[in-house]
Parts: sequence; structure tokens; C-alpha cells
Amino acid sequence: MMKDTDFEIVCTTTPDVYVRFTEWFKSVLASSDGKISLALSGGNTPKALFEHWATKHRDDVDWKRVQFFWGDERCVPPNDEQSNYKMTKEYLFSQLPISERQIFRIKGENEPFAEAERYADVLRRELKGEIPSFDIMMLGVGDDGHTASIFPNQLALWDSPQTCVVGIHPQSGQKRVSLSGRTINAAKNIAFLVTGKNKAEKLREIIGNRNQAEKTYPAAKVAPQSGRLLWFLDEDAAEAIKKG
Ligand code: 6PG
Repeated sequence: MMKDTDFEIVCTTTPDVYVRFTEWFKSVLASSDGKISLALSGGNTPKALFEHWATKHRDDVDWKRVQFFWGDERCVPPNDEQSNYKMTKEYLFSQLPISERQIFRIKGENEPFAEAERYADVLRRELKGEIPSFDIMMLGVGDDGHTASIFPNQLALWDSPQTCVVGIHPQSGQKRVSLSGRTINAAKNIAFLVTGKNKAEKLREIIGNRNQAEKTYPAAKVAPQSGRLLWFLDEDAAEAIKKG
């Protein structure tokens, strides 16, 4: 059981969230040798971070040392508007000196269950372990309390013994390949990046009352086995927490 003291919260203005996250990211890179493995989250929040990296950090980060993975991907082709890879390629990879050899995408165009198996093999090969451990796992929180692509109505997926699972978006029915809770919690560093008033109420439950929230929300079940957990929040997302 994770004690509430086992995580750090950085709460600041929305533009500064990306500055603080990047300072922390650079500190992890500086304290690591060789390559680091970074699992990216999808959705909209990362776009502003990627723009910040592309415009402000082209030259002060050794991007060649970063191996890029994903925490989840929609089961769509890589050129589909819903593809996390497409968004990342547009906002990040096309803007910085990052080669294809550094990018390990989940192939959304493949049959979902076969792709979950294939990606698990990629992770075991690249991260060298039966339970792959990322150096940095970046996560978001959905309005419904999901994280990666594990949704509240599929909470059992979190506890799957598999490295990767197939989630189904509760509204759209869209299949998504996602890391399981076991893989997420094996990360050395887990960093949530959450902005916006629409997340405030869920964060009040997830951060303010984890033991209750983890019965309902996958994001509340994020508790690194031995790594660090950090929350990078803007003031809107944190407003309900600050009220106590
Ligand atoms: C995805 C994500 C998902 C995301 C949350 C928050 O593929 O959509 O990985 O878990 O992080 O839904 O999304 P926003 O940043 O768009 O609010």
C-alpha cells in the first residue's frame, strides 16, 4: 500500500508545468548513463510539452540518448488523426534530431491482441527484463479517472499478469493497446502531467483519498514498486486538492 507521503506534487501555472517537468526530465537524464527509456502518454496534454521541447530545448537535451515508447496507443493506423504516434511525430519527432531507431511505436494497425504480444516482446528485448522497467513513465489522467488505456469499467486489466493488455474505450468502443498496471508500476520514475479544471475533481479523489479512489479509478492504482511518483499539475487541475 502506498503511503500518501510517497509522492511529490509540483503545482504551478500552466505554462510553467512544462518548464518544471522538463527541468525534472533533464535531471533524470543527467543522473543516468547512456540511453534512457521514456514511455509517452497520448491525448492532448503532451502536445504543449512537445511544443515546449521543440521550441526551447532543441540544443540543451541530448535527444539521441532517449528511446521513445508509449504507455498506450489507439488501434488505428499510424496516419490516423487519433493516433498517439501521429501526434507525437507531428509535434515532437519532426521538430527534433530524433531518428527512427529511437522510436518504438505500438502498431495500432495490427490486430490488437497480437500487437499487445508483439509490443511486450519489444519491451522485454529493449528494456531487458521479464517485467520491463521504464526509466520514465509519463502518464495522463482522463476525465473518468483512466490512465494509459485502462478504464474504470475494466479495472481488472490493471492487475493483468501480462506486460501489455487491450483496453476498450467505454464510449467509442475503440480498442487500445495499453501497458498493464504491473508494467506501469515497475517504472523507475512515474510522472503524471495533468492540466485543466476538468481534472480537478478526479484529482481531489485520486490524490486526496487514494485508498478509496483506487477501488474505482485506474489512475489511483499507480504506485511504483520501488520508483518515484511525481504529479506535475497546473493550478486549475490542483484547485480541489488545495482546498483540502
Ligand atoms: C490516450 C492517453 C490517455 C490520456 C488521458 C488524458 O491515449 O488518450 O494516453 O491516458 O493521457 O486520456 O488525456 P488528455 O491529456 O487529452 O486530457
